[in-house]
Parts: sequence; C-alpha cells; structure tokens
Amino acid sequence: MTMKVVSSCLLVISVVLSILLSSHHFAKADNEIGKPLITKTCTQTDFPDVCTSISESDPHSSSANLTGLSRIGLEFTAAKVNETTAEAYKLLINATEYYQWSMGSACFQEYNSSVHQVYKGLEYFDQQKYHEANEIVFLVNGEIHTCSVREVPELPGTNTLLSKFTTDLQTILHQLY
Ligand SMILES: *[C@@H]1O[C@H](CO)[C@@H](O)[C@H](O)[C@H]1NC(C)=O
Ligand SMILES: *[C@@H]1O[C@H](CO)[C@@H](O)[C@H](O)[C@H]1NC(C)=O
Ligand SMILES: *[C@@H]1O[C@H](CO)[C@@H](O)[C@H](O)[C@H]1NC(C)=O
Ligand SMILES: *[C@@H]1O[C@H](CO)[C@@H](O)[C@H](O)[C@H]1NC(C)=O
Repeated sequence: MTMKVVSSCLLVISVVLSILLSSHHFAKADNEIGKPLITKTCTQTDFPDVCTSISESDPHSSSANLTGLSRIGLEFTAAKVNETTAEAYKLLINATEYYQWSMGSACFQEYNSSVHQVYKGLEYFDQQKYHEANEIVFLVNGEIHTCSVREVPELPGTNTLLSKFTTDLQTILHQLY
C-alpha cells in the first residue's frame, strides 16, 4: 500500500517536472538572450558577419534580449557616426585642395546631420517608438551611402562598415514592431 502511494507520488512528480521543464524550454526559446540570440538574429540580416562581430563586441550583448541587442546596435551606430564626424572634420580643415575640401565638407555635413538624427533615434527607442527609431536608421543609412560615393579616400572603411551595419540594424529593429 505504502509502496503504491510512493510510486504514484513519484509518477505525479515526474509528470509535473516534465511539464515544467518543457514549458520552461518553450519560454526560453521565445525569450532568447546572448550568443544564441545574436546568431539567430544576425542570420536574418544581409551582412551576418558584420552584425555578429559588432553585436558581440559589446560585453552587454552576452546577456541581452532582443531589445537590449537593438539598443546596443543603435549605441554602436551613434558612437561610430560621432567618431567619424570628428574625423571628417579633421580631413576638411586639413584639406589643401578645393576638391578635397568640398568632398570632405560634404561628408562632414552628412555625418554631422547623422549624429543628431541617431541620438534622436535613441530617444525614440527609449520611448518604445521602434518604428520611428528605424526610420531614422534608414535616413542615416542614406546619408552614409551618399558620403560613400564621394571621393574621400580616408573614409571608405568606415562608410562600408556603417553602411552594412545600419542595413542590418533595420532588420533587427523591425522585429520589435
Ligand atoms: C529585456 O531585458 C531588459 C533588461 O535588460 C528588461 O528590462 C526587459 O523587460 C526585457 N524585455 C523582454 C521583452 O523580455
Ligand atoms: C561626440 O564625440 C565628441 C568627441 O569627438 C564628444 O565630445 C561628444 O560629447 C560626442 N557627442 C555626443 C552627443 O555624444
Ligand atoms: C591635420 O593637420 C594637423 C597639423 O596641421 C595634424 O596634426 C593632424 O594630424 C592632421 N589631421 C589629419 C586627420 O590629417
Ligand atoms: C552640425 O549639426 C548641427 C545640428 O544639425 C548644427 O547645429 C551644426 O551647425 C552643424 N555643425 C556644422 C559645423 O555644420
């Protein structure tokens, strides 16, 4: 009699446990974080390698959910665009020929306008206006593309990187709305 109660208790416990474990498993799949999330998210972008290396370069990404990962992407864009604006400005003030100056000047304007836009994008993001934030990333991507077709020999690496990453970031942000 006691054996029977104990064994049916064990049966109930194991059934309950397996239900708990499997629902835990499903919940986790819906709410992935860190490296598995980066892999899954970046695979869907146009430039998975760029997406992965930039995402993983931020230490917070190892425990970030999709919202966190998107913000990391926006922060990276803001920092890189800001840094590049300063570089473009230096090229501009150091230019010795008019053509060099005019191309540097145009790129500087494009980056300078992007800096202000991308910070606005971060504000939208924090207000959970993900669609508006993504529209800003689209505009910034356009500004960078415009600069990239100019002959500014010092900027192509950055232009290419930012152009690819802001393309990927639009795909990532789009998953939030
Ligand atoms: C994502 O993570 C942040 C903390 O980093 C948390 O505040 C937020 O609720 C999480 N979002 C979802 C959808 O789980
Ligand atoms: C952009 O970078 C400069 C340094 O080049 C820094 O002083 C400034 O605070 C940055 N701007 C923003 C909005 O973070
Ligand atoms: C611009 O010129 C100054 C000196 O005139 C130099 O120190 C600086 O490194 C130059 N910057 C660039 C980006 O070439
Ligand atoms: C950079 O952009 C800001 C805002 O868009 C503007 O106020 C500022 O004059 C610009 N800087 C230069 C040097 O053009």
